[in-house]
Parts: sequence; structure tokens; C-alpha cells
Amino acid sequence: MSKGTSGEYWTAPALPSRFKHDLLSRYIPKFGGMTGSPGGEVVHLDGYAGEGRHLNGESGSADRVLRVAAAHQGRGLVRWTCFFAERSADSFVQLETPVNEYRSRGADARAFHGDVHGLVDEVLAAAIGRPRGAVHPCQPTAGQ
Ligand SMILES: C[S@@+](CC[C@H](N)C(=O)[O-])C[C@H]1O[C@@H](n2cnc3c(N)ncnc32)[C@H](O)[C@@H]1O
Repeated sequence: MSKGTSGEYWTAPALPSRFKHDLLSRYIPKFGGMTGSPGGEVVHLDGYAGEGRHLNGESGSADRVLRVAAAHQGRGLVRWTCFFAERSADSFVQLETPVNEYRSRGADARAFHGDVHGLVDEVLAAAIGRPRGAVHPCQPTAGQ
């Protein structure tokens, strides 16, 4: 696991994560709405996705983005293509739950197990001719 992402990290969000998640939840809808406004589409990469949700049920960055994407799609606003990379096998297994949930409801969401660098070509290919957004929703802990 990466530094600062021990098992405890996913028990419940610590204060820095709460700030980050609050910021993301405010920023992502506006960001997506503006970036996607010319063509109604946005490509999003979360290269350090983590598990998607904390064990206490609170949303992590992936779950938050997926919720916004589903809301935008449901209202016919912006169609999001969401990529999530997670290199820890244990965290990836957890991440698949929210990603598959939203996929089953029609979202274009793809989880990738491995280093984010291995996903970049696919993301860029998907982004050709479309607006794209890359956000790095990791908290600024040492080594990240
Ligand atoms: C701080 S946690 C993610 C938190 C998550 N973004 C959130 O806010 O809910 C960072 C995650 O990035 C993963 N990670 C670190 N380096 C990575 C890399 N090069 N490629 C893919 N995942 C990576 C770690 O395994 C860890 O799960």
C-alpha cells in the first residue's frame, strides 16, 4: 500500500480526507458542468482511486465522482466517462463495488488494477475530440 494509506485509512475518513472530499463534492459538479458544456461529454481520470468508499459507509473520491456523473447523466446534462486506477489489489477489489454499481445503472465507469501510468494511453484515446478532466484527489501526504 502507498504511504499514508494503511488499513486504517479506509476505516473512516480522517480530517484531511473530509476536507478534500468536501472540496471535491463542491468542485466536481461545477468542473464537469463547465468542462462538458461544449459537447455534453467529459472524460475523467482518478489515477489514485483507492477503495471508493470507507468502511463506515462514507464516500471516497471515486464514489463521489460517480454520484455526480450519474446525476448529470440522469438530468441529461453531461455524459461522463470515468476511469479509475488503483494499484493495490486489496483496494482494487473494494473499488470494484461502487464502480460496478454505477455501471449497472448505465454509467460509463471503468476500474483498472495497476499503476495509473498503464492507463494513460486508454484515457487519452477515449478523450480524443472530447473535453477531459484530470483530477488528483489524493491528499497531500508524504510520498504521494
Ligand atoms: C490516499 S489513497 C486514495 C484516496 C482516494 N482518492 C479518496 O480520496 O478516497 C491513494 C491510493 O492511491 C493508490 N496509488 C498510489 N500510487 C498509485 C499509482 N502509481 N497508480 C495507481 N494507484 C496508486 C494507493 O494504493 C492508494 O489506494
